Amino acid sequence: MALEAAASDRRVVHDRWSLLTRQVAMVAFVVCVLTGAILMFWYDPTSSTVRYQGSHAPLQGVEMSGALASTLDISFDVRGGLLVRQLHHWTASVMIAALMLHILRIFFTGGFRRPRRLGWVLLFGILFASMGAGLSGMVLPDDLLSGSSLAVLDGVLKSVPIVGTWLSGLLFQGRFPSGALATFYPAHVLVLPLAMIGLGVVLLRREARQNPPIAGRNRTATVARWVGLFGLVSGALTLVAGFVTVNPVWAFGPADPANATAGAAAPWYMAFLDGAQRLVPPGLEVVWAGRTWTLALLLPLGVVGLFLTAAVAYPFVEEWASGDRGGHRGPTQPRSTPTRTALGAAGVTFYGVLWAAAGSDFFALIFALSLEDVVLAFQIALVLGPVSAFVLTRRVCLELQLRDRDAVLRGSPTGRMVRLPSGGFIDVHEMPDGSERRGEERQVGGRHTRVS
Ligand code: HEM
Repeated sequence: MALEAAASDRRVVHDRWSLLTRQVAMVAFVVCVLTGAILMFWYDPTSSTVRYQGSHAPLQGVEMSGALASTLDISFDVRGGLLVRQLHHWTASVMIAALMLHILRIFFTGGFRRPRRLGWVLLFGILFASMGAGLSGMVLPDDLLSGSSLAVLDGVLKSVPIVGTWLSGLLFQGRFPSGALATFYPAHVLVLPLAMIGLGVVLLRREARQNPPIAGRNRTATVARWVGLFGLVSGALTLVAGFVTVNPVWAFGPADPANATAGAAAPWYMAFLDGAQRLVPPGLEVVWAGRTWTLALLLPLGVVGLFLTAAVAYPFVEEWASGDRGGHRGPTQPRSTPTRTALGAAGVTFYGVLWAAAGSDFFALIFALSLEDVVLAFQIALVLGPVSAFVLTRRVCLELQLRDRDAVLRGSPTGRMVRLPSGGFIDVHEMPDGSERRGEERQVGGRHTRVS
């Protein structure tokens, strides 16, 4: 009997709907690797200049890198090439979004506590590697958008005091921007995917040790479920890739260090870094030791770095603060841990404000406001938003706890009203044990009212 209970308990753990986000991330990763492998047949990772001779008329005869010419060929001259490119791009986005949702779910249900603390750190490792893969992938077409990203990246690196120039030289192999492909291509197709696979395998093996497979479990059903999920996710992504254009490199043209694309923006998953950079007050510089030290890039990098470090280290900090060193199985309701849930809401708000601030110029344009006013509004929101989110969420959690207590003590309302011979009304509550409880009738101000 006990064995059955344990087995069914484990089965519940394996089949929860809340695991869907992570399963979608895994499927998206597989599709991403498959489509990436197909792209490698035609993509040419060279920065040497060629004259475009493909079928996209507006760019015919234009000088560009071999990388952009091959990306245009994939888009216009390889049968199904554009679909595969778009599918690769969309799966990358969906994978990162699914990973983020999975991390949020784990945070709000306390799934990072012992014995899963290391799993939390590994998940962040996978998220950072996939963001790196997304960013390095965006560089590969070597179009004007890639060039703008590289110029920003080079500026950020060079703003790091003392080692900045050296860092830039290392990343671009001493040849900015043409050396970028020599670093980013192997990082994109080999190093980062292998890092993601390695981290994923360690994570899954740890989980398998913590949740050993159930004896007699129906393997065929598991395989069928995975095949079904793969079909659904890849089918939906193929539809999106077929109908929704993403990264139209032909509209931007070749990279040019002297130009930036109008409306150029970071990929959505990197936008929070862009937003952080836009919210730094101007003129943050100090002159020291005969040099000018600018904080315009160091400050946002430091703030975002602290935020991410706090997120990764959270399980250890919470354990230290609460003194709870026991093992935990199963999720906790967010309302049961108001402070953690409130901290999570504050973190999401902080991230959200940085993310939205990346579009400050769009907001200024759409609402016909001055850019300075929009930036000021975001700066205020960055300070007040997380504090308000913390206070509000904590309050809501405590209210929900009170409601839960009420439901136990006084039952939950059934919505049924009973009229009494005296003319008053009472409503009927259902107690947790299934019994019914009727509210008391009381006369208030000449009207009959139920008070439970
Ligand atoms: C073994 C795995 C992978 C291989 C072989 C691969 C290969 C490639 C190649 C050859 C390109 C350039 C072609 C082009 O831009 O059209 C590319 C672009 C790209 N890759 Fe990957 N990739 C892999 C994994 C990933 C992963 C894990 C991500 C993201 C998390 C990713 C995101 C991207 C993005 C966003 C682009 C730009 C696509 C575009 O042009 O719109 N790739 N990849």
